[in-house]
Amino acid sequence: MREKDSSPSRGKLTYEASEDIPVNPTSNATFGEIVQRRFNRREVLRGTLAVTAMGAIAGPIAFGGRQAKANGPAFTFTEIEHGVDTTHHVAPGYKAEVLLRWGDPLFPDSPAFDPRNQSAAAQLKQFGYNNDYIGFLPLPEGSGASDRGLLCVNHEYTNEELMFPGIERQDRDREFADMTKEMVEVEMAAHGGTVVEVRKSGGTWAVVLDSQYNRRISAYETPIKISGPAAGHDRMKSAQFASGNYTIGTINNCAGGMTPWGTYLMAEENFHGYFWGDIANNPEKVNYERYGVPGQWYAWGKYVDRFNLEKDPRSANQFGWIVEVDPLDPNATPIKRTALGRFKHEGAETIVNGDGRVVIYSGDDQRFDYLYKFVTEGRYDPGNKAANRDLLDKGTLYVARFDDDGSATWLPLVHGKGPLTAANGFKSQADVVIETRRAADLLGATPMDRPEDVQPNPRNGKVYVMLTNNSKRKADQVNAANPRPENLFGHIVELTPPDGDHAAEKVTWDFLVKCGDPSKAEVGATWNPKTSEHGWFAAPDNCTFDSLGRLWISTDQGSAWSLSGTADGLFGIETEGETRAYSKMFFRVPVGAELCGPIFTPDDRSLFLAVQHPASDGTKEFPGFERRSTFDDAATRWPDFKDDMPPRPSVVVVTKDDGGPIAT
Ligand code: FEO
Ligand code: CA
Ligand code: CA
Ligand code: CA
Repeated sequence: MREKDSSPSRGKLTYEASEDIPVNPTSNATFGEIVQRRFNRREVLRGTLAVTAMGAIAGPIAFGGRQAKANGPAFTFTEIEHGVDTTHHVAPGYKAEVLLRWGDPLFPDSPAFDPRNQSAAAQLKQFGYNNDYIGFLPLPEGSGASDRGLLCVNHEYTNEELMFPGIERQDRDREFADMTKEMVEVEMAAHGGTVVEVRKSGGTWAVVLDSQYNRRISAYETPIKISGPAAGHDRMKSAQFASGNYTIGTINNCAGGMTPWGTYLMAEENFHGYFWGDIANNPEKVNYERYGVPGQWYAWGKYVDRFNLEKDPRSANQFGWIVEVDPLDPNATPIKRTALGRFKHEGAETIVNGDGRVVIYSGDDQRFDYLYKFVTEGRYDPGNKAANRDLLDKGTLYVARFDDDGSATWLPLVHGKGPLTAANGFKSQADVVIETRRAADLLGATPMDRPEDVQPNPRNGKVYVMLTNNSKRKADQVNAANPRPENLFGHIVELTPPDGDHAAEKVTWDFLVKCGDPSKAEVGATWNPKTSEHGWFAAPDNCTFDSLGRLWISTDQGSAWSLSGTADGLFGIETEGETRAYSKMFFRVPVGAELCGPIFTPDDRSLFLAVQHPASDGTKEFPGFERRSTFDDAATRWPDFKDDMPPRPSVVVVTKDDGGPIAT
């Protein structure tokens, strides 16, 4: 995510972009006084759970004809060295090739990338900036193919100082003085998403430029429909789009997900950062303040009325949603599904429940914010695509409360239930979804340490919650699931739905790992003191499962990589058996980048990775460079390494030298 420049010194914690955002003001469940009591009980519970888990995996776990060992490290690759330098690294025996770079053509008539003369028109025909989520949809539809498919890629945000020559990082203190209207339009065109066909031939992946499916979705010009409980509501009516049923654009698309019916979900995360204007007299003041609107991270409000709340008071209500896209129909209008709530959605990962209902997990990535799930009312019908089309419009949104007895309760965010009534400003379900955070506050949800990707394991139904970090948590604010004050390195929580029922309102939970240096008591020991050959990892952010049901996590430390001593990367982490929580680094990004979007093809033989914002975060801590990178003076020019080419966020594809499945 976009990191605030706070003049860091080496070793000082400087990440967490939202330093200036007011954090959750509520004091839900500050269980400081009961944590010790809970842990005594939980040690007992852990013993019980361990027996259950071991019982469930007795013998080798056999999936897809291959076997993962139950009692030894399941990831059979040699870990790479931790560290930081100007390029990427992958485990020995693998190759990592750059497949798509910012500015690469997506259509036969795309203009050649000319970063010194970029225009919105060119950018709309080229791969966008800061690739984040990657989905892989096999082609032909339903084939399960691993050598041809659509990549669905989010473009989360832009770094003006790395995109435009002669420009330093801009901010509101200097009123974004150097940003022209043309630059803002390029930024808007570089946001959103890309759908692009890719094919593997002779062991090498390439983009299919003349594919009928290729498209760009942007913040600049893409019409987007609004559906679900908030559609057409007065609070959704902006000055420009007065029906409340449409808007233009999607912003800050971080992680996401693919649905079982083949659509692509784009999560709108830090939407607050795009708005300007004084909200003292804004009718949405209370609502906006809970989200940090207006964040003024960008100059957009200077030139585009819908990002200026003085000109368009309610337009910020049209952002902060999950957007559903049909990648097989490039003419289909993307849809904001308001039933899934409005917050800083990190992602939207889906699982089909045993009864056919579909469950979507989503974290709200801010310090002290919450974990959500949505359960559809209707059931997924694998044989009837049309019947699945609007499944995401009806269902129940829940927020999680974690208790000290090792259980968690999913609290329904339903108008009329409990405090969600007109007396508290919730006159309908539209109000509940528009002000999801405030509704969740009233229900007593558990404030978490920045919930990022939330991934159900399709093999065993357990759910993994990435909690990046929370340097602001005080000792009297710890709770059962977030037990460390000043949590610099984050942790991973594992949810176990009863009998695999993801619709259940009560589940059990445990820690998979508390990240940090296990030799240093001051950061809190890892839950499992086992660590990798070369060190430990911090700041779990995105994650995925391979077809063996093994968990892979990517990290986002921001400038704080200097505390762990390594750039971000991809780690395999064991979830079962004696080596539970043991991790190994498989891939490492160049200086300043974070890693996003890990996704395997169905055969595990190709792994797509999104290297986001190379040369951006923490180059002030990079020995020998020690300043903020710009287009003209960058800590790395990855991946081109040409003097006239700025660093470029890019999708990398990893394959094994012998062509076999990865990490087996
Ligand atoms: Fe876009 Fe929560 O990182
Ligand atoms: Ca991220
Ligand atoms: Ca992040
Ligand atoms: Ca994921």
